[in-house]
Amino acid sequence: MSSPVSPDQKGGQTPKTFMPRIFSGIQPSGGLTLGNYLGALKRFVEKQDEGIETIYCMVDMHAITTWQEPAKLRQQTREGAAAFIAAGIDPKRSILFNQSQVGAHAELGWIFNCVARMGWMGRMTQWKDKTAGKNAEAASLGLFAYPSLMAADILLYHATMVPVGEDQKQHLELTRDIAIKFNNDYGVDFFPVVEPLIEGAATRVMSLRDGTKKMSKSDPSDQSRINLTDDADTIAAKIRKAKTDPAPLPDTAEGLKDRPEARNLVNIYAALAGHTVDQVIRDFAGAQFGTFKPALADLAVAKLSPITSEMNRLMADPAEIDRILGDGADRADAIARPILEQVYDITGMIRSRRK
Ligand code: TYM
Repeated sequence: MSSPVSPDQKGGQTPKTFMPRIFSGIQPSGGLTLGNYLGALKRFVEKQDEGIETIYCMVDMHAITTWQEPAKLRQQTREGAAAFIAAGIDPKRSILFNQSQVGAHAELGWIFNCVARMGWMGRMTQWKDKTAGKNAEAASLGLFAYPSLMAADILLYHATMVPVGEDQKQHLELTRDIAIKFNNDYGVDFFPVVEPLIEGAATRVMSLRDGTKKMSKSDPSDQSRINLTDDADTIAAKIRKAKTDPAPLPDTAEGLKDRPEARNLVNIYAALAGHTVDQVIRDFAGAQFGTFKPALADLAVAKLSPITSEMNRLMADPAEIDRILGDGADRADAIARPILEQVYDITGMIRSRRK
């Protein structure tokens, strides 16, 4: 299953091909939103169903880069895992686990802290956004180093593809930079240069209250997002109240260009229905929001309600969720450990403990 490098490849002479393998993660720092579902979860399931090896992680170590109440963190980690399964992740076909159970993530994260440069981290827009208008001196060191742990998550498995939403693009570019610098510094061809998979109609789902802002679990307004735990009435009410402009829907996708709220709702419809934006525009050209919003609400409820009820069913048995996460962690560790051991060897660490 893993893609070990033979010692003779360490000189960097042999160009290495890596097996296709997907890794992605979600932070359990709050409840999951429609943005997480369309930008990530739904696509994670599609990748699993294409038969590619898939490894998915609740990144609890990333979550604590900002303060998390311990009891809530535990609950949100289980809820996230339940959302994966409810959305269609089969924990037998995919590996599903929480990051802190596989210590190799933190170990490789440290090594990457020594590869990555302060300047690289300081240029991350997420770091800048999260500290904007606040005292950056008071942010945790972990928040600054966040992207280096994220690179470790991915490269620890020699993952080659990473499905994410648009907002993670810069972090993936940094992952590539870290892989390239490590390979160059040590004269090896050890880490793959990963491909971000940012595909589909909803790689950036926007707030329902402001079409220029990303839909986010950390937005203070609950009206700005659809949560995967919202019931049917709440979903319908939030869509009904979503901000729009007074014009009817255009008859070409071009016509959505300067209409961020309208474009967002059309993108959401397309992604939920599995249609292209052009198809949705064809079906609703000239329609008023009074017609389009109820259609969108019906579609959202039809797609999301089964997931919500399955999540609720799974959450009734937290021990079973913990068992699934533990089993996934064992399988993840079995891939990660040998790769990490090679990293220690490459970097010159003595590994003489008897196992
Ligand atoms: P996080 O937890 O913020 O989001 C998880 C995934 O959901 C996507 N997403 C969205 N997609 C479309 N529209 C939105 N409004 C929206 N909001 C969130 C994100 O792009 C992401 O794919 N740093 C990552 C977690 C992480 C990770 C990794 C991801 C840690 N290690 C390794 C991939 C590989 C994050 O904070 O995602």
